[in-house]
Amino acid sequence: MSNEALSNLSHEDRRFDPPADFAAQANLTAAAYEQADADRLGFWAEQAERLSWESRWDQVLDWSNPPFAKWFVGGKLNAAYNCVDRHVEAGAGEKVAFHWVGEPAEDARDITYAELKDEVCRAANALVELGVKAGDRVAIYLPMIPEAVVAMLACARLGAPHTVIFGGFSAEALSSRVLDCGAKVIITADGGYRRGAPSALKPAVDEAVAKVEAEQPGLVEHVLVVRRTGQEVASTEKDLWWEEVVGRQSSEHVCEFFDAEHPLYVMYTSGTTGKPKGILHTTGGYLVGAAYTHWGIFDLKADTDVYWCTADIGWVTGHSYMVYGPLANQATSVMYEGVPDAPHKGRWWEVIEKYKVTIFYTAPTAIRTFMKWGDEIPASFDLSSLRLLGSVGEPINPEAYVWYRDTIGGSRTPVVDTWWQTETGSILISPLPGVTSAKPGSAMRAIPGIAADVVNDEGESVPDGSGGYLVIREPWPSMLRTLWGDDERFKETYWSRFEGMYFAGDGAKKDEDGDVWVLGRVDDVMNVSGHRLSTTEIESALVSHPKVAEAAVVGATDEMTGQAVCAYVILREAAGDGGDDIITELRNHVAHEIGAIAKPRQIMIVPELPKTRSGKIMRRLLRDVAENREVGDVTTLADSNVMRLISEGAATST
Ligand code: WT7
Repeated sequence: MSNEALSNLSHEDRRFDPPADFAAQANLTAAAYEQADADRLGFWAEQAERLSWESRWDQVLDWSNPPFAKWFVGGKLNAAYNCVDRHVEAGAGEKVAFHWVGEPAEDARDITYAELKDEVCRAANALVELGVKAGDRVAIYLPMIPEAVVAMLACARLGAPHTVIFGGFSAEALSSRVLDCGAKVIITADGGYRRGAPSALKPAVDEAVAKVEAEQPGLVEHVLVVRRTGQEVASTEKDLWWEEVVGRQSSEHVCEFFDAEHPLYVMYTSGTTGKPKGILHTTGGYLVGAAYTHWGIFDLKADTDVYWCTADIGWVTGHSYMVYGPLANQATSVMYEGVPDAPHKGRWWEVIEKYKVTIFYTAPTAIRTFMKWGDEIPASFDLSSLRLLGSVGEPINPEAYVWYRDTIGGSRTPVVDTWWQTETGSILISPLPGVTSAKPGSAMRAIPGIAADVVNDEGESVPDGSGGYLVIREPWPSMLRTLWGDDERFKETYWSRFEGMYFAGDGAKKDEDGDVWVLGRVDDVMNVSGHRLSTTEIESALVSHPKVAEAAVVGATDEMTGQAVCAYVILREAAGDGGDDIITELRNHVAHEIGAIAKPRQIMIVPELPKTRSGKIMRRLLRDVAENREVGDVTTLADSNVMRLISEGAATST
């Protein structure tokens, strides 16, 4: 960990204790730490009681073949049954599962647990009719509409692992994921709404299916299309309308129970190479982790709380904290389709006021945006229902933390800064809202049941006051089991750096009190607005453009988005200067290859890239330029003039 990153951490003296009345009613108390320390597996077995098991496990953890963990060995359950049916059977059928708030603004409806059960059963019956069996993969590419939740749960009900692809991803991203996990059905929509206007999804699916056909003919058997916007769509022979196929099914479906280790879903995330990794989560342990943390870290009181997580269903946060955790806990949630600033910049606060939201979970990038828009916007809404706020996705800077707590939380709500990853499945490091005296900017310490540490290059625990790498020392129930189809890469990526420990890829510091400050990625992975992007993946996208000879991408610090994508591009000789619109052309090309979120903030056309004598690109120097810093040590450069050329170019192009 660079000293520079460590010293960037401002000294933070502010502490926020949980209000006494909050602490007095909190779900998780300090005793949980002691209990879990004394008997970790016993603690997890107790958490597993939150679920309904068809048959119980014989062994809590089988770690005889590390790093391949098996949790709740021999146990059988059904994730959809746990999320829906059992609540209806317990008499909570009339309870609202989701206040769905769509776009346009007047398009909103409440969905009860009973209605959700009927829809999930219909969708499950429809998938059976389409030939989906336990173990088959189903890709889901949908906007934030109720059918997205229904589709996920219908797959879970059948034991058919789903892979949800964020609706903002490109046809290319969709096809590569469908091919990688071998999905035989794609569930999608004609389009979704963005700022009140219909925005098409289906053309990207058609393009993706054509690509898949070219590589593996017949892999995708059906495309099930939800009619959301009613816009014209080209139809292909694989297309079926959701309304027709799902609509004609019975709302009864008797579910099968699966082994605790049966695959639940695959979620793709960026790694250090160009190829996204298919993170595999299984059923029992994942659901235990999601339910326990959603109950404990968000202090959920299922009968009275109204919970809102603003994440899109296409990310892991949407999986664990919009679908599986809240539904397993019988929560009432808000599900929001739109964006924060349409029809106006107070829209989120209006939703909180209207539904009397009590628990709110969002990302630092959104918080910083609201800060910029000004206090008067949230001030004109009644936010007094809020009792707990959460943050996730990237380190939250202390100023944003304090603003969030004061301006949104009325200076009374605890704020939980939750650290976790797609791989971890659920929150691992966070304050406990009723226990921890929280420091703005620190995720504090591992939650009960989790053994996190910060280690040096040799894998030794660092003393308080020092920095190093964030690791997890013991397996945990919701951990990824492997990378889809690639056990070797799984071992190599997470378990080879430090013997017997899970390496998260983040740098971190333990402060004088031993509390953890997560500093960000130490690998070639960027974090833009809480979304993980790989430098290599964007480089590959740029190089696939006919005018580009070479490209290097770095993540530069950005006030709003945490990091921003900055690209340095060498054009092919035949392309000349690339033409007037070369920058726009390349930005659009990246959007087409990966998705709009990967569009570089800045592209600089350069004559050369800084390389060591062995040919490795020195990204450190490019980051210096992107962050307008004096360029650091260049002695290992093969050609010491290169940086002068690049810096001059950067000065004239910005
Ligand atoms: C990476 C994981 C977990 C869901 C959202 C992102 C960063 C996440 C925090 C936090 C500091 C954080 C880490 C991590 N990160 N939460 N509270 N403080 N950094 O999931 O795409 O898998 O990204 O996000 O760098 O490794 P993801």
